[in-house]
Amino acid sequence: MRFDTLIRNGIIVTATDMYAGEVGIVGDKVSAIGAHLPSENTGRIIDAAACYIMPGGIDVHTHLDMPFGGTTSADDFESGTIAAAFGGTTTLIDFAIQYKGQSLRQAFETWMKKAEGKAVADYAFHCIITDLGAAQLEEMGQLVREGVSSFKLFMAYPGVFMLDDATIFRAMSQAAKHGGLICMHAENGGAIDVLVQRALAEGKRAPKYHALTRPTTAEAEATSRAIALAEMAGAPVYIVHLSCNDALEKVREARDRGLPAYAETCPQYLYLSLENFDVPGFEGAKYVFTPPLREKWHQEKLWQGLAQDTLQVVSTDHCPFCFKEQKELGKDDFTKIPNGGPGIEHRLSLVYTGGVHGKRFSPNRFVELVSTAPAKLFGLYPRKGTLAVGSDADIVIFDPNREDVISAKTHHMRVDYSMFEGIHIKGMPKTVLSRGRPVIDGGKFVGRPGAGQFVRRHTYAGV
Ligand code: URP
Ligand code: ZN
Ligand code: ZN
Repeated sequence: MRFDTLIRNGIIVTATDMYAGEVGIVGDKVSAIGAHLPSENTGRIIDAAACYIMPGGIDVHTHLDMPFGGTTSADDFESGTIAAAFGGTTTLIDFAIQYKGQSLRQAFETWMKKAEGKAVADYAFHCIITDLGAAQLEEMGQLVREGVSSFKLFMAYPGVFMLDDATIFRAMSQAAKHGGLICMHAENGGAIDVLVQRALAEGKRAPKYHALTRPTTAEAEATSRAIALAEMAGAPVYIVHLSCNDALEKVREARDRGLPAYAETCPQYLYLSLENFDVPGFEGAKYVFTPPLREKWHQEKLWQGLAQDTLQVVSTDHCPFCFKEQKELGKDDFTKIPNGGPGIEHRLSLVYTGGVHGKRFSPNRFVELVSTAPAKLFGLYPRKGTLAVGSDADIVIFDPNREDVISAKTHHMRVDYSMFEGIHIKGMPKTVLSRGRPVIDGGKFVGRPGAGQFVRRHTYAGV
């Protein structure tokens, strides 16, 4: 047996196991896992001493090169996947947007072109549906068969992305028929719009009013409605970027009843709060994203939700806009601030720091939240999301004791601030392989734009 790469001296961590072992790689696949694997003629030996050997992270919620709010998100598929790789993410699922009047295929092809030749790690797409006629309804099944097996729908952003309940119900029924999974942006967009217009009429224009006009009740109501519509349609539903305890309770109730309801949260809701708006001038715009930040006490509820499997996934909702010139579009009116924040690079470190070092859950649960559960829910498992013979050799050598302080001065995202500036992390990737090739090694990017491939996903199979 001869390996192209052999990883030794580390502790293998999957969602279920943790043991001293070696991983042998041939080509782009894991070809052996064991003790004392033969090292003769091995191409490259990686010493993982004092480190975990874990499956590459999977971020199922990113917005690279996305036109939004009168501008375009600042990371494209090259800078975004490089930053992701620095943070231990080797696969991401981005969103292809179908604009009104377009076919779903047009959306898919447009986003395929954005990624082609640029991505340094693997990628897949969900399709955002904004216009669902008979033709697009038919296309949903075709897309599922081509590997775009999930769809994002919006209950917010009236006039831009928002769909009515009948359309949501139709889409859910069709997704259920073809094995697709509906990802839901759950906020009551109509009620929020009234609150926003009221705030503007009262001259409330500062960034914090973005958060104050989007109450937790609006998220909880929409979460509950999304789950009810999915139940009627006989469909599974996945609530994206869940931010507050009120919505968490709705997911818990549904899961207690045995419904296939799932949800993700994001590091910004675990680490940041309304207090972040207590900054001078327009600085609060750095924290304008949707759903917004909440009172601090929600954070611990979300951590508990992750520990108890009410929440299955941590994604980033990476949607970066520079403070200069992009966030500044809303200097005089919070409704014109492009919604979104940068986070693709620090997901693993932030979840490990708060989750494992914070004694809230085990290293296995950490791997499950950032890699295995996303792979299972979104049709990537077992090709990705675990370390097994035959899996893609997407591997992170993760040093659980390496420390750093997050800063825009040192991050790799193409954005001029960090939401997490000054936050101390413990637990960081040391070496990152994408399908057997090193992408990050010794703190340096060693990959190649264009090496990342589109991954056709299976249908939803449940966790
Ligand atoms: O503010 C956010 N989250 N921007 C990205 C679009 C979305 O709703 O996920
Ligand atoms: Zn959303
Ligand atoms: Zn998003």
